[in-house]
Amino acid sequence: SSLDDLYRRVIMDHYQRPRNRGEMDQDSVTINLNNPTCGDRIQLQLKVEDGIIKDVKFIGEGCSISMSSASMMTEAVKGGTVEDALRMADLFSRLMQGEEIDDEDLDIGDIEALAGVSKFPARIKCATLAWKALQQGVHDSAE
Ligand code: FES
Ligand code: FES
Repeated sequence: SSLDDLYRRVIMDHYQRPRNRGEMDQDSVTINLNNPTCGDRIQLQLKVEDGIIKDVKFIGEGCSISMSSASMMTEAVKGGTVEDALRMADLFSRLMQGEEIDDEDLDIGDIEALAGVSKFPARIKCATLAWKALQQGVHDSAE
């Protein structure tokens, strides 16, 4: 369908022109995760101040799903509250369970383009890697 085409274009756009790709210097929390089924990996860095995600960056190697998901995630959470970021992570896992998400009062950006991934269990891990890193990073930032 044309919606699938649109989603495919959004995914490829994030893969080819990743947002917030790179590394930060000091004062950031760094999380390294990999997808055990394929070995692909992500490094996520977060700078949290007063409950706000001031900056977020990632580097990594992986398939188009994992890297585009990381790009979309950083774009969605950057500048927002930690609380909203965790709510988005929750919305994302519901999306991966095949639920239709009506983003309530959150601006989830391009994330919905990954909805089709929910039909492919192996790829769900790819799409979720960045969100797992985010949840861990938020947790570590609170310490
Ligand atoms: Fe196979 Fe990611 S593990 S597509
Ligand atoms: Fe490894 Fe997608 S194939 S993260």
